[in-house]
Amino acid sequence: MYNWDDPINEALSKPDPKVSDKSTVVENLDGISQDVTSTGDLEGLTGIENIEKGAGRIRVDDKAIINCRADLNQLVPFKYEWAWKKYLDGSANHWMPEEIAMHDDIKLWNDPKGLTEDERKIVEVNLGFFSTADSLVANNLVLAVYRHITNPECRQYLLRQAFEEAIHTHAYTYCVQSLGLEETRIFNMYREIPAVATKAEWALPFTQSLGDPNFRTGSKESNQRLLRDLIAFYVVFEGIFFYVGFTQILSMGRRNKLTGVAQQFQYILRDESMHMNFGMDVINQIVIENPELWTESFKEEMVELIKTGVKLEIQYAYDTMPKPILGINPSQYEEFVKFIANRRLVRIGLPEQYPGAINPFEWMSEIMDLKKEKNFFETRVTEYKTGGQLKFD
Ligand SMILES: [Fe+2]
Ligand SMILES: [Fe+2]
Repeated sequence: MYNWDDPINEALSKPDPKVSDKSTVVENLDGISQDVTSTGDLEGLTGIENIEKGAGRIRVDDKAIINCRADLNQLVPFKYEWAWKKYLDGSANHWMPEEIAMHDDIKLWNDPKGLTEDERKIVEVNLGFFSTADSLVANNLVLAVYRHITNPECRQYLLRQAFEEAIHTHAYTYCVQSLGLEETRIFNMYREIPAVATKAEWALPFTQSLGDPNFRTGSKESNQRLLRDLIAFYVVFEGIFFYVGFTQILSMGRRNKLTGVAQQFQYILRDESMHMNFGMDVINQIVIENPELWTESFKEEMVELIKTGVKLEIQYAYDTMPKPILGINPSQYEEFVKFIANRRLVRIGLPEQYPGAINPFEWMSEIMDLKKEKNFFETRVTEYKTGGQLKFD
């Protein structure tokens, strides 16, 4: 049983399951035995092991993105400058939902002639999808991804990302409350509306496998499992599943409808663009350090995974707007999803799957174009500091 009188000595007297032999059984707080079998030295540290006094100082070469055996509590020396840079950029981009005026939105929403039924439906369904999707993302980050990424500068960014996901859930809730929508109906859409439920349902198994307390990286098979789940999470969920909804809401803002809600979504999209790019950098770095994982069959599997995500997102577009709304035809969304999927594929070293797909929404390109990312954020920070409204061009 756990010793409540002297928990520190109790903990110290037990073997450390991460560094002990290949099969370790420990007692949990209820006195029930648990197998926490280690995969041995290949497995990485967590950052909460006992302090190794007098150990050699950390060198850049000791660091590894997964399965690292060097102390994870020392941020420097940096190995992955890109991760630290994204942490700084994300922090410079800080915003809070209450800073955005919602008065005009409330007036428009309450005006019976302010919006069409289809426009209202689009707003509600997207708030339904995103309000729970961002909680799912945050839970996946904190409970699953964080543990397996064994690098302090990447973890620094993951902590920033986790907070941003909390801000996003806050923003969606703020929109729901400002417009006076029925909260329980919106927050239950991911269980009750098929177009919303399908995407969340597809993503959950990937989250659950990493969150399995018995899951450890270290073997080729388990490292591939981590890589697969990161691709599902960062490339498909954050990189494809958000984009029809974002575009639908932003296209309303461009027509001066619900500009407060649209501005919330625009700020969120800027954050998400960074999350996705960070995730793809992590994926590429894992492959660089572990090239044996990137086999032909694994690559084919990843292409299929992304193509499934594309199909689901296209279906979401048709389900949420079966006929043209705001001057946009649903088939344009199909083209758009294929266009962004090609970009994601190439970014992680996979071949384009949709030859000739073009971007029908050029006005979204500023946010999606990585080459403009720096300017994009500089613009954002200036606008943030002056408290000005963003323009929808
Ligand atoms: Fe988010
Ligand atoms: Fe995100």
